[in-house]
Amino acid sequence: MGNAYEEAYALSIQDKAAFWAKAAEDIVWTKTWDTVLDESNAPLYRWFSGGELNTCHNAVDRHVEEGRADQVAIIYDSPITGAKGTTTYAELKDQVSRFAGAMAAKGVTKGDRVILYMPMIAESLVAMLACARLGAVHSVVFGGFAPHELATRIDDCQPKMIVAASCGIEPNRVIAYKPLLDEAIEQAKHKPDHVVVFQRPQAKAELTAPRDLDWEVIAAAAEPHDCVPVAATDPLYILYTSGTTGQPKGVVRDNGGHAVALKWSMKAIYDINPGEVFWAASDVGWVVGHSYICYGPLLQGATTMVFEGKPVGTPDAGTFWRVIAEHDVVTLFTAPTAFRAIKREDPDAKFLEKYNMSKFRALFLAGERCDPATIEWAEAVLKVPVIDHWWQTETGWSIAANCLGLHLFPVKHGSPTRPAPGWDVRVLDDNNHEVEPGQIGALVCKLPLPPGTLPTLWNADARFHQAYLADFPGYYKTGDAGFIDDDGYIYVMTRTDDIINVAGHRLSTGAMEEVLAGHPSVAECAVIGVADDLKGQVPLGFVCLKTGINTPAEQIAKECAALVRDQIGPVAAYKQTVVVHRLPKTRSGKILRGTMQKIADNQDFKMPATIDDPGILPEIEEALESIGLARKRPS
Ligand code: COA
Ligand code: AMP
Repeated sequence: MGNAYEEAYALSIQDKAAFWAKAAEDIVWTKTWDTVLDESNAPLYRWFSGGELNTCHNAVDRHVEEGRADQVAIIYDSPITGAKGTTTYAELKDQVSRFAGAMAAKGVTKGDRVILYMPMIAESLVAMLACARLGAVHSVVFGGFAPHELATRIDDCQPKMIVAASCGIEPNRVIAYKPLLDEAIEQAKHKPDHVVVFQRPQAKAELTAPRDLDWEVIAAAAEPHDCVPVAATDPLYILYTSGTTGQPKGVVRDNGGHAVALKWSMKAIYDINPGEVFWAASDVGWVVGHSYICYGPLLQGATTMVFEGKPVGTPDAGTFWRVIAEHDVVTLFTAPTAFRAIKREDPDAKFLEKYNMSKFRALFLAGERCDPATIEWAEAVLKVPVIDHWWQTETGWSIAANCLGLHLFPVKHGSPTRPAPGWDVRVLDDNNHEVEPGQIGALVCKLPLPPGTLPTLWNADARFHQAYLADFPGYYKTGDAGFIDDDGYIYVMTRTDDIINVAGHRLSTGAMEEVLAGHPSVAECAVIGVADDLKGQVPLGFVCLKTGINTPAEQIAKECAALVRDQIGPVAAYKQTVVVHRLPKTRSGKILRGTMQKIADNQDFKMPATIDDPGILPEIEEALESIGLARKRPS
């Protein structure tokens, strides 16, 4: 007999149906499933086919019925506005059922899509849960995206309703959402029937009848709505994430497998018990916000934190410790970039001395590769396990983790440890052969994936197949490259596509290239991610100008930055552009982005054998030097 992790892992691979059927006993079903793992349409698999449940019932109502009515479900803490508050499970049930009633009264029913454009306030969770209660499919769009991105999502999922707050608040500005929303709806071909606005005092929105509705007014007038049972395989939400083009991928999450996997993960991976306070310092617009600000902790009957602030500057690098101490947080989950920011401002962790962190048990990091120095610093100052875990929007929960609730393995810095139960992770070469331990290759997961992972992309089965299943038949392609060592530890090193991670935010350089290509003076362009001490990576654009254009390079750079901010949003953090005469390419015309990235990051690189004209590289080096990026001659 091995330890609890080894036992769970072996069963999860050898008898998937038995493993997840047992986990599913923790969920309240209105109808038991017919088949745990439905392989009838492989390689598209479904979990718990024939079963029926309601996710909102499992996240809210059941806890009220089972004795947690007066327990706090949500703690809201905004160092930006100074506001704080709590919502008990009974209050949450009341708010969610009334808002669901209000949405239903305006025509939202099971299967309808509802876009949410919301900041980090408790009402964001209320809106998500109200959709789940009705069987409507929510799609949350991150507040840092520009109207154009919102319009793309409106056209793709065709929402009947959009729910928004009147504003988001960043440390340096109040962002009125309504004008952005109006512009997005103007740009989109599809028009929602209604826009519901939650008015915040910092910037009230102007509402135009009959389309626009005030949240408070319609909720006050509404009858509470009961939970609507849905099929386990019905979609709970769509979350758009960056693909390799400007058209984002609509990752679909089902109801049944999602509820089972997330509730199980709260104990097995995070070691969180009902009643404890769990804090994922992310945003509801990202998958971490969906899984571990909203659904996971609430399915577990725990207390979740909604934090509207930043790790530094709101007001200082001690804000995370203040929140942990003040609200009895036992586990924090955030992105490594947040810790790099804290470490930079307060290297000796002086702020920690002010706070009583005795209840704090563990720190989980994900969203980007965590550099060993940051983990070591966090371990040294916090003196609790610091756990790197690896997952994606598509997977909804960890592919690899040191499962704190099962067994804590010795940590190897730079590795998210072992595959989580349910995940059969392999490393393949270009010919689909498994490589030796220690050898780098494509990180793939043997199908079927465990419950809670994406069954497909919204209205795009063929794209799903092409993007994830086609390259390595029988496996899911993660898009990450890395290796597995002799002890079975996984190392995630880099993306194999053009996705970059900027401050834990996933962005597509392909999408940025599409924007730059739209600049009237730009003939050709390439965007790469270059290493950044704080954000992990930041985008950098190379543009070649059309013949006869003499605009100064600084002016072009300014316009390119404005264009990306306007089309994609401030979250892209696109600031740097260099103007060059030509881009380095292979003889077949492929731009050598990898080589440019290595030069920019001052890494060793080999002159690509297929390069068309090596004489171009010195100009690239010079251009990079001109913006302060180092260079190294090829070996
Ligand atoms: N709405 C509108 N704008 C937003 C936004 C939102 N929800 N979130 C970020 N932005 C804007 C910021 O205001 C900033 O705009 P600016 O260029 O005008 O300053 C830009 O997008 C980039 O923001 P951000 O990525 O937050 O960078 P920053 O320089 O302001 O702060 C960090 C740096 C490291 C402190 C910050 O990135 C951070 O806290 N990262 C953690 C990320 C995280 O939790 N990721 C989730 C994955 S788990
Ligand atoms: P997202 O879909 O935004 O969660 O981004 C997923 C991507 O972030 C992954 O495919 C990885 O490239 C990267 N990522 C997430 N977590 C980790 C981790 N712990 N280590 C290395 N890379 C990670």
